[in-house]
Formats: sequence, structure tokens, C-alpha cells
Amino acid sequence: ETVQQVTQQALQQYEGQLGNLLPILHAIQHALGCIPAPAVPLLAQALQRSRAEIQGVISFYPHFRETPAGPVVLQVCRAESCQAMGGNALAEHARASLGCDFHETTANGAVTLEPVYCLGLCAQSPAVMINDQPYARMTPEKLDRLLQAEGG
Ligand code: FES
Repeated sequence: ETVQQVTQQALQQYEGQLGNLLPILHAIQHALGCIPAPAVPLLAQALQRSRAEIQGVISFYPHFRETPAGPVVLQVCRAESCQAMGGNALAEHARASLGCDFHETTANGAVTLEPVYCLGLCAQSPAVMINDQPYARMTPEKLDRLLQAEGG
């Protein structure tokens, strides 16, 4: 499906509904894995908003991506309990070893790094999630091994 088709479908699905921009953006990202740049002018025109306004909403919500995520998505818990148990060092290690920041993808496109706020594993902090699989009591060494195993 092209960006045009997906955008049209999402617009039709939520046509005439107040506050429909967010569900439309969710629908596009669900279908395409991101909100590609060509969708912005289409949305602006159809919803009678400026491109800057649409772009502003996309950048405001960390959930929305402008480029697709890598095949491996690493989420590092940044909430309190994990932070108290070495989560900060773990997050720093992830950024340094991947060479990218949170909400970014490694230069080779393999791994996308995202923050997450509590995975319900506080008793076994610090926790991470790799492609929706949670891992507790994480250390930098374990993380490196897990990412290697995933081909990251
Ligand atoms: Fe990290 Fe709860 S604070 S799992």
C-alpha cells in the first residue's frame, strides 16, 4: 500500500470526527510503521490545517516515528525503581554501545532504542524489553549478549 492510499483510508475512517488527527496518525503508523513525510501535506490539505501544525503534533508525541523502526526494538525502563537499581548506567551503556539516542535507530538500521516507563518488573529492576519480550535484572553485559543474539 502506498502512503497516499493509507492516508486516504485513515482520513475516510475518521472523517468528520472531532479530534481525529491522533487516531488518523495512529492508523497510518500502524499500517506503515511510521508517518512518512509525504503524508504530512496530504493530511494538512484534507484536515485544513497547516503542514507545520501536523508536523508539530507528530514531533510532540514520542510514539510517532518519521522513519520505520529497526527489526530489533530495545526499550529500556526509565522509571524510578529501575533508575534506583542501575537503570541509568544501563541506559547510558545502551546509548553508547548502540551509538544512538533514545527514539533513534542505529546507523546500520538494526536496533531502535526507546524509553519505557515501568514494565511491572520493579522487584527485579532494572528491566528492559526486546521486541516485546521483557528481561529483568539486566546488566550491561547481559544486554550486549541479548542484542548480539538478536543480530543487533
Ligand atoms: Fe522499571 Fe517498574 S520501574 S519495571
